[in-house]
Amino acid sequence: TGVVRVGLLGLGTVGGGVIKTIRSQQEKLASRLGKRIEIVKALVRDSEKERAVHLDRSVLTTDFEDVLKSDVDIVVEVMGGVEPTYDYVRALIEKGCHVVTANKELLAKRGTELVDLANRHQVHLAYEASVAGGIPILGVLRQFLRTNDISGVRGILNGTTNFILTKMEQEQLSYQEVLKQAQELGYAEADPRSDVEGFDAMYKLYILAQLVYGESLPLAEVNRKGIADLTAGQIRIAGELGYRIKLIAQAEQTGEGIRLSVEPTMLPLSHPLAQIQDAFNAVQLSGNIVGDLLFTGRGAGELPTASAVVEDLAYLLTQPFTPHPVWKEREGGAETTQETEAK
Ligand code: NAP
Ligand code: HSE
Repeated sequence: TGVVRVGLLGLGTVGGGVIKTIRSQQEKLASRLGKRIEIVKALVRDSEKERAVHLDRSVLTTDFEDVLKSDVDIVVEVMGGVEPTYDYVRALIEKGCHVVTANKELLAKRGTELVDLANRHQVHLAYEASVAGGIPILGVLRQFLRTNDISGVRGILNGTTNFILTKMEQEQLSYQEVLKQAQELGYAEADPRSDVEGFDAMYKLYILAQLVYGESLPLAEVNRKGIADLTAGQIRIAGELGYRIKLIAQAEQTGEGIRLSVEPTMLPLSHPLAQIQDAFNAVQLSGNIVGDLLFTGRGAGELPTASAVVEDLAYLLTQPFTPHPVWKEREGGAETTQETEAK
């Protein structure tokens, strides 16, 4: 069997899960791919840190140039953020390296350029893990929903906030206590304001719109509101009235263009999205031929996210390069109420 040389940018919650998954599934992957996956370099900020997974000291580095020089076939970007991540990913694509990323912020802010760059260099850019964690929704949209017209998409796209809303309702815990738990469980972003203020869900919605409509809106035109102002009292009153509050992300086609919104929404308890609890996510869509579809599964955390990353890795190792559909951004979508300042 041959060897695939993989570089890792980041070895935190998701990076650790990727190593564990590659190790636990190594034999199956080798027999299905005909190749063994070898992690040749892993970029971190602090090489002295205690880590849940052990990598040889010679593999860890704090210098991106070491990754660039180590002749990797594929890079898995799980470090997050836009700077310096964009520059690193760009340099690797320019060297002909395939990219798998879980970074929705990077894609929502620089995805149009990265898709174009990957196409020009004929490398794969795979990002299943960036939207709805372990739910393989992007693969479904790309491969199995090309004939249907999809009228709208809505869902719960952030695990941290769904976990917070669930625990605030069930255990009457304070917002701060629950956020701390979500951070300990590895669900939250490095800066959790991205979760609670709705940015993270907005980035994912942006990516979904690119796949569903072939275009998205500038982030500044997304109507975004988070859950930071919600109180336990409001959640309780909603419950007494037979409703549950969920952070709903929604994309719809209107007469004036597409409209994207992320906002806390009261749903009747019988609504399918009201049933989605803890860090689960859900994506609900409706196709003109197939009718209503609902996808649900774990939307955050080490192994569900690593599942999506490693499935992408396995997929691209078996597929020839085909150009990625170009990403476009449309100015002047349907009118929105302005809550949004793209961070
Ligand atoms: P994390 O636990 O904070 O890990 C980030 C890793 O990247 C750490 O190993 C850190 O190094 C390294 N890193 C960060 N900035 C760096 C820099 N400038 N130079 C070198 N190394 C750097 O984050 P995570 O939860 O794994 O998330 C990673 C990415 O996956 C993010 O884009 C996130 O949005 C996305 N994602 C996360 C989840 C989830 O459930 N956690 C789910 C889907 C997608 P040190 O270890 O030395 O600090
Ligand atoms: N912080 C994100 C969430 C991770 O809670 O959904 C998964 O993208």
